[in-house]
Amino acid sequence: MAILPIVTYNDAVLRQKADPVEADSEELQTLIDDMFETMYNSKGVGLAAPQVGKAVQLFVIDADEMTNELDDEEDLGPLVFINPVIIASDEEYLKIEEGCLSIPEVRDEVSRPQKITITYKDRNFDSQTLIADGWISRVIQHEYDHLRGILFLDYLSAFRRRLHRNTLKKIKEGSLQTEYALVPKLPIEQE
Ligand code: NI
Repeated sequence: MAILPIVTYNDAVLRQKADPVEADSEELQTLIDDMFETMYNSKGVGLAAPQVGKAVQLFVIDADEMTNELDDEEDLGPLVFINPVIIASDEEYLKIEEGCLSIPEVRDEVSRPQKITITYKDRNFDSQTLIADGWISRVIQHEYDHLRGILFLDYLSAFRRRLHRNTLKKIKEGSLQTEYALVPKLPIEQE
């Protein structure tokens, strides 16, 4: 297994629509293992393939640490989502603070449906349907957005976004210190 560098918010791959995973392969299984290792190394609870530079419809989550704090939630352990589709969303919205490994040190509140139903293939390519509520629902929706080229920053008002301007600039320049490896898009050199 290997820890992969995580791309930052300004990388074009995070704005692409990810392609469906066509078939199982040794390469895919290695990517899944590497994504889990990368996610645990950076203390994240979710990681989408575009964040390690692969524009395919795949994300992994492990919301255990979060769910353990909440008695009423099922402990689902590490989960792999391949070619996921959210087929139903709750009408009730919740405002919860989010962060993203591609946007280190930026956190802000995002309003999203409380409950969703998602279909996907697990790492054995078995079809699954999950009704997710609370924290897991939140993490899934955030990662699902990554497969459609959407970042949580996109939901913020211009005012809220401006508050993060300095940190965003540092990330873009590659001058923000992080505990895990990042690939900032380097600024174009002035001739
Ligand atoms: Ni993210």
